Amino acid sequence: MNTELSLKEIVREKYTEVANQSKDQNAASCCGCGPTCGTDEDFIGIMAEDYSKLGGYVADADLGLGCGLPTKFAQIKPGDTVIDLGSGAGNDAFVARAETGPTGKVIGIDFTEAMLTKARANAEKLGFNNVEFRQGDIEQMPVNDSVADVIVSNCVLNLVPNKANVFNEIYRVLKPNGHFSISDIVLVGQLPAGLQQADEMYAGCVSGAIQKESYLGLIEQSGFTNITLQKDREIFLPDSILSTFLTPEEIASFRTSGTGIYSITVYAQKPVVTAIPKVSDGSKPSDTDAAEIEIRLAQPADYGSVVLLLKSVGLPTEDLNAKLSDFLLAFVNEKLVGSAGVEVNGTVGLLRTVAVEKDFQNHKIAGRLVNDLSKQVRLKGVKDLYLITTTAEGYFEKQGYVRVQRENVPAEITQSQQFSSICPSSAVVMKKSIEKPKIKLSDLEQVSACCTPNSGCC
Ligand SMILES: C[S@@+](CC[C@H](N)C(=O)[O-])C[C@H]1O[C@@H](n2cnc3c(N)ncnc32)[C@H](O)[C@@H]1O
Repeated sequence: MNTELSLKEIVREKYTEVANQSKDQNAASCCGCGPTCGTDEDFIGIMAEDYSKLGGYVADADLGLGCGLPTKFAQIKPGDTVIDLGSGAGNDAFVARAETGPTGKVIGIDFTEAMLTKARANAEKLGFNNVEFRQGDIEQMPVNDSVADVIVSNCVLNLVPNKANVFNEIYRVLKPNGHFSISDIVLVGQLPAGLQQADEMYAGCVSGAIQKESYLGLIEQSGFTNITLQKDREIFLPDSILSTFLTPEEIASFRTSGTGIYSITVYAQKPVVTAIPKVSDGSKPSDTDAAEIEIRLAQPADYGSVVLLLKSVGLPTEDLNAKLSDFLLAFVNEKLVGSAGVEVNGTVGLLRTVAVEKDFQNHKIAGRLVNDLSKQVRLKGVKDLYLITTTAEGYFEKQGYVRVQRENVPAEITQSQQFSSICPSSAVVMKKSIEKPKIKLSDLEQVSACCTPNSGCC
């Protein structure tokens, strides 16, 4: 069975090969098919759409690898900063550049060296100094927070094993009120095993695709709003392709199964974050002095400020360093004001270290952190969240957490340092099932009230 790493290696190898081929060869061997499919005319244009009519079109950058026209729908304005995920040879990046003009900026990200070489050569030929191609994995984008007005991507996310990570990253790098238009492949119904298991079908943008409902669900769970399908088109895989992977009987059954492969272009917006009072010069917040809360995943460089925050509110920091990657942090004007973490172990998670800086309590920051964390770990397969608290049992009860006896706590939790040594044995252990979204807005306010700096181990 392929791991996430080996899938990425398959994709990188495939697109290295593709970068060194002509567009006609690619039309017969990339999205929609694999190298074993041959060069039958049937394969040409299975997924790709005609780019040549779009302003800024650069023929050398068009390797025929897309499955939509995201830039056409992306509402890019002059001066915008645009990021193209999985930029290939730069096809969408150059079309985007025509719309941002010389005052904007376009950043393409791709993890295949040969694609980057091609894209950079194209940019150099055109003499563009505001189109840049960066090497990186779009699950961990080499881009700072809140820099992009618009994100586009064409037929790439289906190739990424962990799509939730990509949507979380998109959320991080978009400015508040920024938006994306992404063209991608999704499924309705189950693919036959022969298609599902073929490496060529993975690199060919088919078997890495997920259900349309799940795809849209991931976008919603990442916090986006105004989710809109801008285009929805069924892709027909001819028998000449299917016969490489399926028997005639399997093809017949696939044709009548109701399973469909779709190219969608989906738009969504990062909401403008909640305005809260800003603190200046250590003075108390004033309601007329508005600032914004930004919530993002913790990074190693945040370690020092998280320790300071936790110490300032009397929470333990002993076992923090290794756990930071599972933390969400809240910032106001780039100052760390809140943190919350979950230690994930299989299907259980331990909610911990919910802390909010004293001047920023009562702004639902803790509630937002806990809510966002719950959504994220649910995507990782966590079914039950536990917490250990010395002071906040009543609040968490209202949140749907129930007290559990220590002897009924699973080993994954009892082995944690928080349980075994850091929190006192008198602390209460509570549990909540997060299998299905049950959190109501009114409940979040309760969490916010409870997870104030003095709420002890929680
Ligand atoms: C089907 S091609 C599309 C290229 C381009 N968007 C176009 O339409 O011409 C997929 C591209 O995504 C890149 N890619 C796939 N997975 C990636 C990842 N996890 N991070 C960065 N790039 C990735 C591949 O290297 C390849 O260039």
